[in-house]
Amino acid sequence: MKTKLFAFLLLLACFSTHAATRERLSLDRGWLFHQGDIVQPPIVGHEESYSNAKAGSAGGAAANEYDDSDWRRLNLPHDWAVEGPFDPKANVAQGYRPRGIGWYRRYLRVDPADRGKHFELQFDAIATHATVWVNGNVVKHNWSGYNASYIDITPFLRYGDAMNTIAIRVDAQAMEGWWYEGAGMYRHSWLVKRSPLHVVTDGVHSTPRQIKGQQWSIPVEVTLNNSGKQAGDVVVEVTVYDPSGKQVAQRTASAHVNVLATDTVQLPVTINNPSLWSLEKTNLYRVSTRVLQAGRVLDEVSLNTGFRTIRFDAAQGFFLNGVHVKLQGVCIHQDHAGVGVAVPDSVWEYRLRRLKEMGVNAIRFSHNAPAAEVLDMVDRMGFVVMDENRNFNPSEDYMKQLEWMVKRDRHHPGVILWSVFNEEPVQATEVGYEMARRMSAAVKALDDTRPVTAAMNGGFLTELNVSHAVDVVGSNYQVPDYDRFHKAHPDKPFTSSEDTSAFMTRGEYKTVKDKNLIASYDDDAAQWGNTHRDAWEAIATRPYVAGGFVWTGFDYRGEPTPNEWPSVSSVFGIMDLNGFPKTAYYIHQVQWIKDRPLIHIAPHWNWKQGDNVRVMVMANIERIKLLLNGRELGEQKADPYRMNNFNVVFEPGKLEAIGYNGGKEVVRTAVETTGAPVRLELLPDRAQLAGDGRDAMPITVRALDAQGRAVPLADNEVTFAVSGGGRSIGHGNGDPNSHEDEKGPTRRLFNGLAQLIVQTDYDSKDAIAVSASAAGLQPAQISIPVRQVAAQPYVAEADAPLTFVRSWRIAPDGDQRPDPNQKLASFDMNTWGWGSPPMRAAAGSKYHLYRASFTPRKNLADGSGRIRFAAIRGKAEIWLNGTLIGKKDSFAAGALDVPLPAGAGKREINVLLEAEPGQGVGIEGNVTIEAAR
Ligand code: GAL
Repeated sequence: MKTKLFAFLLLLACFSTHAATRERLSLDRGWLFHQGDIVQPPIVGHEESYSNAKAGSAGGAAANEYDDSDWRRLNLPHDWAVEGPFDPKANVAQGYRPRGIGWYRRYLRVDPADRGKHFELQFDAIATHATVWVNGNVVKHNWSGYNASYIDITPFLRYGDAMNTIAIRVDAQAMEGWWYEGAGMYRHSWLVKRSPLHVVTDGVHSTPRQIKGQQWSIPVEVTLNNSGKQAGDVVVEVTVYDPSGKQVAQRTASAHVNVLATDTVQLPVTINNPSLWSLEKTNLYRVSTRVLQAGRVLDEVSLNTGFRTIRFDAAQGFFLNGVHVKLQGVCIHQDHAGVGVAVPDSVWEYRLRRLKEMGVNAIRFSHNAPAAEVLDMVDRMGFVVMDENRNFNPSEDYMKQLEWMVKRDRHHPGVILWSVFNEEPVQATEVGYEMARRMSAAVKALDDTRPVTAAMNGGFLTELNVSHAVDVVGSNYQVPDYDRFHKAHPDKPFTSSEDTSAFMTRGEYKTVKDKNLIASYDDDAAQWGNTHRDAWEAIATRPYVAGGFVWTGFDYRGEPTPNEWPSVSSVFGIMDLNGFPKTAYYIHQVQWIKDRPLIHIAPHWNWKQGDNVRVMVMANIERIKLLLNGRELGEQKADPYRMNNFNVVFEPGKLEAIGYNGGKEVVRTAVETTGAPVRLELLPDRAQLAGDGRDAMPITVRALDAQGRAVPLADNEVTFAVSGGGRSIGHGNGDPNSHEDEKGPTRRLFNGLAQLIVQTDYDSKDAIAVSASAAGLQPAQISIPVRQVAAQPYVAEADAPLTFVRSWRIAPDGDQRPDPNQKLASFDMNTWGWGSPPMRAAAGSKYHLYRASFTPRKNLADGSGRIRFAAIRGKAEIWLNGTLIGKKDSFAAGALDVPLPAGAGKREINVLLEAEPGQGVGIEGNVTIEAAR
């Protein structure tokens, strides 16, 4: 009996715990979008000026009641720049994609049962300058496309049927970079509901530090806020769980949080002998923070962290957990084929997996902090990261951007460096030094466990410069000065932050200047940069250089250096925009992967009889032998830096490379001459997808010859059809000169390959059927199973196909019947009162007059609308623009529907109420303009 009662109480406790804690709801669904600006007509007139200046009175598309009925409905993430055509007159740096201005709106219905909770909007990133309104109030100006906005909307909220409106103007004309930046709400958005007394966003600082030997501590610091009406006494409890889910530490502390105040609580915990996080074993510990009041859980936050030591040694480079690790890094921007910067999380996972397969162990997110989900993957997959700030500026707004990055990211074990900038012309000056010194101090105040760096393209040898304000000097393209710097500053840790800037067009092996094609032999580099091989040799042979970050892991839109139009994307990538490898991929792979023998041949083997072909063999073994159709062509000692080249006169057949260690064959590879393409093939990246509306995967599209071999030069135009539980969200082929529509039904193969990206629909369980067809080829069909999964908790889509009449003037009441259409001077803001339904007058005078104006939605101009009063008490006359259009003859409270006469534009409505003697009157419910039933 006792146990039963206990079990019941436990159940009750669990239930109430659950009900009380925070909800983080996806706000990705159900946005309305308008491309282009909506300029508000100039405000003239006293009354309009007066009203415009008041809370909640934003005009134009920011207004509560703006008619957005013809806007496009979409789900986030969304990048509108990638949807449109290329324009040779647009900015080359942005990939010739016009960006411009766009508007988003969304309706939000808030349950009255949630009154009193704390509500925060979170926009993970919007490109580029965003102004956010909630219910006609400006609630945020965010002037960076790379940081999140957290917005407390609690005070502005309306509950129940009185809908809330979020409006966002996005100015993507603003630029923060010289690469493709996309446009719009390209990361996720959220609504977080919490107890009024709660942990603030990014309010748990839990960065572990080693005390001594196996003894570690996490000096947990929790920041609480109280938006409630009463001060609160709470207990904050921190629990640490090891990777197997076992509790390894717990600590509590009490806190008193005053009304509308913030408090910080320290809860240092000690952990002995933790399993370390490393690149190979990504042991993640969970730090769970709960806020309890009288045993009830008010709020709960969980985040992952890891135990590892990092050290940058001025003579020997980087050490992770005391073990030397050369940083085999890449810089990456954040756009992908088909989707622009609105890259689904699972496509990020694909990108990181490609990097891992290549032997990358370090990523520099250039030149901005990535999405939070990406850093979670980094921790799980085992990379170290240089987390880079976008705007170099220690003034208030920009310092907040830097601080946001550190606060959000400091719990990630993968983050090993904070970078305050990339290549700033003031870097060699006192000004640069003073700016960097302040930004470095701001970082240190939030996290003193990691070094601060800056990627300098020179200037580090002057008397006073940024290198004096950072812990690790990052160097872009200064190979000739490495040794000088190290000699002059032998105690300063040093890393290459960018040295490769080399060009390759995937699948091309001849440079054709007038076609903007660059051969993939790693011979061509920017004037300031190095080839892949030169840069790595310079880094690898200098122990004091911690490592390097190749510019770049993937091609990206914009910066088509050394070309311009018609080239629209860069060719710096080790992989193309789809993540298809170029020769550089194999060069780095054999340089960076040591634990298994690898060998690769470039190019393909489809040439003309008698062609002289340069064959590059990349291998991480001792000796290489090359054979053509079984005939030995030569043997070479494998060169780990230069790779191995053979000149071969082409004949069709099989070109084979064999790798030897200690005289024994350990690995072999071959390329074969293929026939003409006869059929298409679709290769999905994974076996199935989750039906959560977010999961997406790239599908490789190839053409095969009669023997099933991929044809390397195929360029067929492929038409896609996707049906079932998902849809295409875009495609690409890695051709930097292609101007094809990235969203349409067709895409050409480029050097044998294209990629289609499919994403599941929300709440789908049906398999996705994908077919690809091309003239003269057998089509390909695949079916991708979709696993039914619980939807990520989300905010229900809300529609407001109606106009609320919210802002009313109230005439002085009296016992004489007033003229309902009497004039009120436009400068008179005080004789009449102000109100918003529900409005109720106590028993007293007989006549009450209310006035408002509204603009019905366009679709009601034909007279198909009605004015709906949810509740009116008293007899009523409804006057519209001076004409009596409706009446209510009873005193009792009730709804009233009045047909809306045809016509467009703004209307004035007057409501004259007559009170029953001894009773009150009022417009007691919402007044809406909506379609008649
Ligand atoms: C660097 C810069 C990168 C990119 C690269 C191209 O100077 O940091 O953003 O522009 O050059 O070589």
